[in-house]
Amino acid sequence: MSVGDLACHTENVGNPQIIQGGMGVGVSGWRLARAVSSLGQLGVVSGTALDQVLSRRLQDGDPGGHMRRALDHFPFPVMAERIWKADYIAGGKSAAHGYRKLPQHRKDNHRELEELCIVSNFVEIFLAREGHSNPVGINYLEKIQIPHLPSIYGAMLAGVEYVLMGAGIPIKIPGVLDRFVNHESATYPLAVTGVVEGDDTTIQFDPRNFMERDVPPLTRPRFLAIIASNTLATTMLRRSNGKVDGFIIEGPTAGGHNAPPRGKLQIDEAGEPVYGERDSVDLAKIRELGAPFWLAGGFGSPEKLQDALAAGAAGVQVGTPFAFCAESDLRADYKQALLEMARNGSARIATDGLASPTGFPFKVAQLEGTLSEPEVYRARPRVCDLGYLREAYRTSDGAIDYRCAGEPITTYVAKGGDAERAEGRKCLCNSLMANIGHPQVRAAKHVENGLITAGNDLVNIVRFIHQDGSAYDAADVISALLDASVRPPCGAVTTNSSASSQLRQSDAH
Ligand SMILES: Cc1cc2nc3c(=O)[nH]c(=O)nc-3n(C[C@H](O)[C@H](O)[C@H](O)COP(=O)(O)O)c2cc1C
Repeated sequence: MSVGDLACHTENVGNPQIIQGGMGVGVSGWRLARAVSSLGQLGVVSGTALDQVLSRRLQDGDPGGHMRRALDHFPFPVMAERIWKADYIAGGKSAAHGYRKLPQHRKDNHRELEELCIVSNFVEIFLAREGHSNPVGINYLEKIQIPHLPSIYGAMLAGVEYVLMGAGIPIKIPGVLDRFVNHESATYPLAVTGVVEGDDTTIQFDPRNFMERDVPPLTRPRFLAIIASNTLATTMLRRSNGKVDGFIIEGPTAGGHNAPPRGKLQIDEAGEPVYGERDSVDLAKIRELGAPFWLAGGFGSPEKLQDALAAGAAGVQVGTPFAFCAESDLRADYKQALLEMARNGSARIATDGLASPTGFPFKVAQLEGTLSEPEVYRARPRVCDLGYLREAYRTSDGAIDYRCAGEPITTYVAKGGDAERAEGRKCLCNSLMANIGHPQVRAAKHVENGLITAGNDLVNIVRFIHQDGSAYDAADVISALLDASVRPPCGAVTTNSSASSQLRQSDAH
């Protein structure tokens, strides 16, 4: 079978060749997703902690008025106004002041947080879909379970076309998507450590408690599961409570969290987890499942796109090259510093097995002034006040409480956590908010520092920079990837020059 035959497998027809991977927190915001989708590929916003992101954007004075514009289109205006009034500060808060502290997510969530999730997810998708008619996706981490239901509902209210989810086993998500089409109530099982039979661990959400008027049925987005093993692909198809529309198969060089190596953990001399044969995915078996799939983790080059197509994939999911392009919301100083390091050959990525409170390996770019430096890490007061990565656990009296391996170790241990599990953990919630220019400020003096994640492909991003330039945009990444296409598979591919010109046209909207 030729490459072209594989690329035009019926399951690949009409699918994007390039998915711009969701990058949290807020790195793939609406601007980046909109740019990518405008070019006929799939732009994906990160859905992680959008409640916090919207709240902080409003406290920063809503530069450009984009939040206000999107809020004006939200179907339930009273709720939109409540959110605006709670957080909007004309001209923005002063740099010395901290952001408002929101309550942390709990199983029986505060109404305020549920509303923020609905509205913020709506806002992000509304803006990403503005000015073009191509599909847009949203990415969530399964492990951050409590916000799922209101978040997905908000994204669906704005017409999201794809939901992508990894970092867990999201078998209960497809059914949620089905329920929300007709605004029906949905549930989600919260993972609770130490749970015993009879405990109520079900999260409930009923859209009708939030609707200020009737709205027509919503479109059911396609659901793509992000996986790193054949077993998980099969489990997703066999056990999901609704349709799984495809897979992203992500390897261990990808930015963000990585699946841990299988078997007994081995660490190399640099302290990084060692991946072996057992960690590779058998693509022949994936093909047999008959669902479209995309390959991720170092696939940001025309050669790798061709490799993926030749393996029967619909295309590739790419993160790192897009994280450093002009439209990404990564802080400009961090972006420029790492671009320069990639250019001069000093960029380095480590797979940190300890940093993430989730326990998953996390890719960290080594950069001065960020938590990748031991002294910056040690100088940070160990505080857990955002709490997205908290683990729910059963207390001795049968209640549900929450702990994070990144919180002060004494507190974690007092909640039954294992001190060893807390060593070396970093506060991803606060540092990832700092990465996109919304750092918390404490006692008017300690400003949270960032911690940048990027894939091993960071060292190659200079290939997207124009000669004499110091930056590149999303269109440059897409053009470069499509450049060496053997032929446009299944008819949906934009050419090098039309990719750039389409973006410019859509920017004029
Ligand atoms: C800055 C950054 C943040 C990321 N955050 C997420 C995330 O929140 N959820 C997720 O599923 N994947 C996340 N990823 C992974 C990407 O979606 C994508 O699968 C991956 O970057 C592809 O590999 P590459 O980095 O080699 O291009 C992130 C990647 C980067 C670079």
